[in-house]
Amino acid sequence: MDFPPRPELFDFHGVSMTHYFTDLWDRVQTFKARPDDILIATYPKAGTTWVSYILDLLYFGQTSPERLTSIPIYDRVPFLDLRDVFDKSGVEQAENLPTSPRIIKTHFPVQFIPKSFWEQNCKIVYVARNAKDNVVSYFHFDRMVVTEPDPGDWNSYLKRFMEGKVAFGSWYDHVNGWWKKKQTYSNLHYMFYEDMTEDCAKELDKLCSFLGLSPSLEEKKQILGEVQFDNMKYNNMVNYSTSLHANVKISPFMRKGKVGDWKNHFTVAQNEEFDEDYKRKMKDPTLHFRSEI
Ligand code: A3P
Repeated sequence: MDFPPRPELFDFHGVSMTHYFTDLWDRVQTFKARPDDILIATYPKAGTTWVSYILDLLYFGQTSPERLTSIPIYDRVPFLDLRDVFDKSGVEQAENLPTSPRIIKTHFPVQFIPKSFWEQNCKIVYVARNAKDNVVSYFHFDRMVVTEPDPGDWNSYLKRFMEGKVAFGSWYDHVNGWWKKKQTYSNLHYMFYEDMTEDCAKELDKLCSFLGLSPSLEEKKQILGEVQFDNMKYNNMVNYSTSLHANVKISPFMRKGKVGDWKNHFTVAQNEEFDEDYKRKMKDPTLHFRSEI
């Protein structure tokens, strides 16, 4: 298989992007959302797959269990923004999803969301993860995904992340932009990766209440078992081992799944510089992240 060269980043309406996420811009922007569509929105590496799998199990785990063993998660929950080099584009996959509801994922910052999602008042689940673990996870992801820009070394990567020079732009703008949106758009459920790690059952209950679902205790127990890190790690339908984009031999997609792994990557000096910069950028006292639990 010939892999395309790694893409370059460029400024797109004020956000760093690669052509894979802008090639189909007009088509994506005119996507026709339906009122029962559910959008999962995240900054890359915040726990998108985890929440995608939970939603897929909640809606279809009982009615179409064959999906779980035959369709990879990235086809069950298409990535709207992506112009795929190996397969159908995300928007085409989303348009052809046979399910109801359609569960669709995006990494767009809030201002890039196609307007029909707002017009249809779709339910949106946003997942955020603390910046330090997020950047570590993103670094390892960029090492192993051929359609991502070359990450270079860790030190330069960390600097570029702080400057928002990675695909989908600034983490700081992303989490803040979506947090602000939550104040005016009530169909948005804002979740934190750290809360899920700490008490997934509680987060599942909150999610169900937002979605208006009331699964049985047995079903919830089953879902909580399925979505445990170790079970997902060895489940080929959710661990991206079948993806042509990812070389999981370089770094597994389901890598560590921990809060605080950043401590194994940040030097003391990097941590100090990061914290200083963080304070300047994260001014909203109502948005609080935990980089350890
Ligand atoms: P790490 O690289 O820190 O291990 P996304 O799906 O948004 O790309 O996020 C991937 C990150 O979420 C990876 O983080 C992955 O291990 C983690 N993850 C996925 N499923 C998880 C689970 N069930 N429990 C904990 N972490 C999970």
